[in-house]
Amino acid sequence: MKFGTFDDNRKEYVINTPKTPYPWINYLGNEQFFGLISNTAGGYTFYRDARLRRLTRYRYNNIPLDTGGRYYYLYDNGDFWTPGWMPVKRDLDFYECRHGLGYTSITGERNGISVTQLAFVPMGYNAEVHRLVVKNTGSVEKSVKLFSFAEFCLWNAQDDMTNFQRNLSTGEVEVKDSVIYHKTEYRERRNHYAFYSVNRPLDGFDTDRESFLGMYNGLDAPQVVANGEASNSVASGWSPIGSHALNLTLAPGEEQSLIFVLGYIENEEEDKWEALNVINKKPALAMIEQFATDEQVDAALATLAAHWDGLLSKYQIQSGDDKLNRMVNIWNPYQCMVTFNMSRSASYFESGIGRGMGFRDSNQDLLGFVHQIPERARERILDIAATQFEDGSAYHQYQPLTKKGNNEVGTGFNDDPLWLILGTAAYIKETGDVSILDEQVSFDSNPDNTATLFQHLKVSFEHVTNNLGPHGLPLIGRADWNDCLNLNCFSKEPGESFQTTANIEGRVAESVFIAGLFVFVGPDYARICRMRGQDALATDAEAKIEDMRQTTLTHGFDGDWFLRAYDHYGEKIGSKENEEGQIFIEPQGICVMAGIGVEGGQAEKSMTSVQERLDTKYGIVLQQPPYSKYYLNLGEISTYPPGYKENAGIFCHNNPWIMIAETVLGHGDRAFEIYSKIAPAYLEDISDLHRTEPYVYSQMIAGKDAVRHGEAKNSWLTGTAAWNYVAITQAILGIQPDFDGLKVDPCIPAEWDSFEITRVFRGDTYIIQIKNPNHVSKGVASLTLDGAAVEGNIIAPVLDGGVHQVVVELG
Ligand code: GLC
Ligand code: GLC
Repeated sequence: MKFGTFDDNRKEYVINTPKTPYPWINYLGNEQFFGLISNTAGGYTFYRDARLRRLTRYRYNNIPLDTGGRYYYLYDNGDFWTPGWMPVKRDLDFYECRHGLGYTSITGERNGISVTQLAFVPMGYNAEVHRLVVKNTGSVEKSVKLFSFAEFCLWNAQDDMTNFQRNLSTGEVEVKDSVIYHKTEYRERRNHYAFYSVNRPLDGFDTDRESFLGMYNGLDAPQVVANGEASNSVASGWSPIGSHALNLTLAPGEEQSLIFVLGYIENEEEDKWEALNVINKKPALAMIEQFATDEQVDAALATLAAHWDGLLSKYQIQSGDDKLNRMVNIWNPYQCMVTFNMSRSASYFESGIGRGMGFRDSNQDLLGFVHQIPERARERILDIAATQFEDGSAYHQYQPLTKKGNNEVGTGFNDDPLWLILGTAAYIKETGDVSILDEQVSFDSNPDNTATLFQHLKVSFEHVTNNLGPHGLPLIGRADWNDCLNLNCFSKEPGESFQTTANIEGRVAESVFIAGLFVFVGPDYARICRMRGQDALATDAEAKIEDMRQTTLTHGFDGDWFLRAYDHYGEKIGSKENEEGQIFIEPQGICVMAGIGVEGGQAEKSMTSVQERLDTKYGIVLQQPPYSKYYLNLGEISTYPPGYKENAGIFCHNNPWIMIAETVLGHGDRAFEIYSKIAPAYLEDISDLHRTEPYVYSQMIAGKDAVRHGEAKNSWLTGTAAWNYVAITQAILGIQPDFDGLKVDPCIPAEWDSFEITRVFRGDTYIIQIKNPNHVSKGVASLTLDGAAVEGNIIAPVLDGGVHQVVVELG
């Protein structure tokens, strides 16, 4: 069942009922100011940091779900409603929500009045702009009233929902002309306030929540709206809100537009005040002036659209498959950019007060946006590397505001260092910019202790070889990619962290996954060494990679698939010898991606085993059989009920590893089959089951052992976005940035005839036509660049900034 449609021309998803199976959201903002908005106008807004500078309140896991947002109530002669249906839930004669790139437009109509509520954050602007268009669609003149509503958060979102003895007494506002100013704590140490304005004179206002709602009422029935009369309340303590009251008279067919701005201001200490306790409003008024007219709104929307067109133009496909086109051209790169902006901080599953930026996560996210914003990817790599230690280990997370490592979580996730090599190599392959390797980067964020980025990569590589276990495989430490496989924890206390409560020494448990990752990224490191003339280092690295390959085949292969790990007792995990958890997806994916066992047939066996044992119609589950009870020696993985999360859920993050692995073996049909099982656009028809947005990936889909097999959770902020993007654009469609140029090596379903890709690479634009006359899956028979034959399948960068025609024939 569908709840909307894709409008590819406008790059929008159009939702045609507010009653989606879960709130379907969008993100506003690209720089400093951000908002989350659902298809019923729920969500919130913040400046830079969702925890420390939250502008509006949002109650996660609320009853009813997704109550709280930017609401515009229409009062029509005793009747009242909201265009997004929530929170009033009055029946609408028409409803539509259009989620576009960086904006959302919601239209509701009832009794001859239509209201369209558009929300976006203009480029270079620290505010959400809301344009309301109210139209009389009937045949008689109407007088209606519009009441806006936003509930202010007292800045620190964590404190705001816990520290009531204080914060029920601190709330302060000012109202001047058509602007409501939220200035809680401005009188003391804060130098920032929020404002909420509208571009016409007010007929009333409210700023005190209780006066607006009435005690014991919810947002579905505010007293002020029900009465059609604002109370002009001025908040003092309790809960400050912003509500403008506006009377509108509309002739038949007439429409009026109103522009609201919900923004954020910082003042210098000496410019804080206009008079005693009267805030300096000048900068707010200057911002408001920028959005006084529809022309200004339209111009800013055009700028925003041009911004997105620029980002998306770097890789565009034309194929006969609309679903593929919209994933590759619009929604997957869009989601990748959102993971750049948000990391794992604020979504409808991440509360905005929890996790910082992950070392591992950020490096992987980078794979999905490096071609869109290479300069910012460069900066991100240097930030991440600065949280590393001299021995190559790294803080698992760091805080985006301070860019410092997070002590609570600490280090010891032994896969972390290798992801830095992967991220850096991806950046160099994309840009050719090797100067990044010479940048001086701190260890442990200490500016007095720095080394080149190259040195950071060296210690990353060596961190693995310096920490090998009894079988010569890498020690796992607190966890590897699978945060929930906790082999050195043995936690018995409820509430203890499975990752950080290490209570064993930890020099026995080994990870086959890290071994595979080492062989996968190692050659990039060796190549980088050679690029710097460090041949001895490179040769040594290559020997170590070869050793690891052999060790993996000797001690990491279980007959038909790769083992997952050895535990604290040296016992196998992910082996036929185990009762539960016999086969895991991660080592199958990464080891075959690394080419381990391709020659000896182990790789083929591994992929066959994945298909036989882990595949389902909704994707590949993480392991089988699921753990049915808590295993002290395995940790969090066995805490989830079977079929959910790491305990045999379908992790959409590592399904693409299997896609890529299948392309290593030339299995284009199978690779694309897996791709289309989890790519959201292909799941649109089962939205009732899948439940999360059909335009973005979710981290997890419930596995076959779960009660709700096929149901997704945790949409938007997941490494899934980047890895699926790599799998489809690079491994399957085959356009691969490489050190020497753009490599073309598709691995596609044999029945495909042709497709065309436009790829901007190091300043040139390549229009690449790929023809498949002999219906093969893989193998480039010929390649021409601007009509001239090229030997091999790598296009050396032309570097003239021009447009170049590439014709590739498979065969
Ligand atoms: C989450 C984490 C990621 C981890 C994965 C598997 O997505 O963000 O770091 O690799 O779970 O546990
Ligand atoms: C929990 C989640 C896992 C995630 C981790 C991040 O363990 O189950 O998916 O990676 O938290 O800290």
